[in-house]
Amino acid sequence: MMNTPQPPALEVDRVTLELGGRAILNDASFTVGNGEFIGVLGPNGAGKTTLMRALLGLVPVASGAIRVHGEAVMRGNPFIGYMPQIRTGLANRRVLGRDFVAMAADGHRWGVPHRSARVRAEVDRVLSLVGAEQLAKRPLSELSGGERQRLLLAQCLLGDPHLLLLDEPLISLDPRHQTGVVELVRRVQRELNITVLFSAHELNPLLNSLDRVLYLGNGRAALGTVDEVISKPVLSKLYGSPIDVMRVNGRIFVMSGDVEIDKLDHAHEEGGEHEHEHDHGHEHAHGHGHGHHHSHAK
Ligand SMILES: Nc1ncnc2c1ncn2[C@@H]1O[C@H](COP(=O)(O)OP(=O)(O)OP(=O)(O)O)[C@@H](O)[C@H]1O
Ligand SMILES: [Mg+2]
Repeated sequence: MMNTPQPPALEVDRVTLELGGRAILNDASFTVGNGEFIGVLGPNGAGKTTLMRALLGLVPVASGAIRVHGEAVMRGNPFIGYMPQIRTGLANRRVLGRDFVAMAADGHRWGVPHRSARVRAEVDRVLSLVGAEQLAKRPLSELSGGERQRLLLAQCLLGDPHLLLLDEPLISLDPRHQTGVVELVRRVQRELNITVLFSAHELNPLLNSLDRVLYLGNGRAALGTVDEVISKPVLSKLYGSPIDVMRVNGRIFVMSGDVEIDKLDHAHEEGGEHEHEHDHGHEHAHGHGHGHHHSHAK
């Protein structure tokens, strides 16, 4: 008997996404296969977050079609796990790591004292997947950024998703922790054989883990291997200005003139500057986070 072929994890078919009357993505088409680890790159405002939100049904397509595992986009798709870019207020929470993860499992209501055995088992499962059983016994406020990322990853593995959308999980992590988070995601992705879209501002921490790169810019999208996409002609088109690509000791530097573009764009979002806290579910109403366009090139 022949197996029916699995539909691809993601099909983006001539999709235009508009926000505030402006095309963020213009007639873009690409297909992501099951089990691929895709690094999503592009300058601030290129549309990385908007694309993820479109896959979740939070941003409607202006034209074209998106299919996830062969099905039309739907809100609350249980097959998608999402880690939003904006993660305000986490650092201040006295809540225990385990309870933080569990909140997402039981509809993220605060202070639910009695959890069903099913929820407890599910929380144990995801904590063990990311190796956070011990971390989870401590309050969030006492965890480092990298440790918190581990719990956030556990949270988005709840319910056994087939596709993970991780929006800038490396923000505010130092290089060593960045590598740790990327390797953790890679290991979990292989273990569960799931598809991952992982957005970042820097390519290098992802280089050893990604299968292909999705690079966004100027309303366009380029999906391919690092060699296909991270090239002078492709990036110059996406940036709309001349770009040079330099390879040094296995690292890749994307340069505009003599400025390294990753560094220029580097966003700093999490941290002490956000005072407000709000319940943080799988849907997030704000797609912003663009207040930090100043250069950090030194
Ligand atoms: N609700 C909105 N209304 C109008 N424009 C919006 C809205 N949300 C985002 N935008 C704009 O859409 C563009 C794409 O934003 P998006 O957040 O997807 O970019 P990004 O690639 O994730 O950027 P970053 O690297 O800074 O996270 C930006 O120019 C942004 O200002
Ligand atoms: Mg973003």
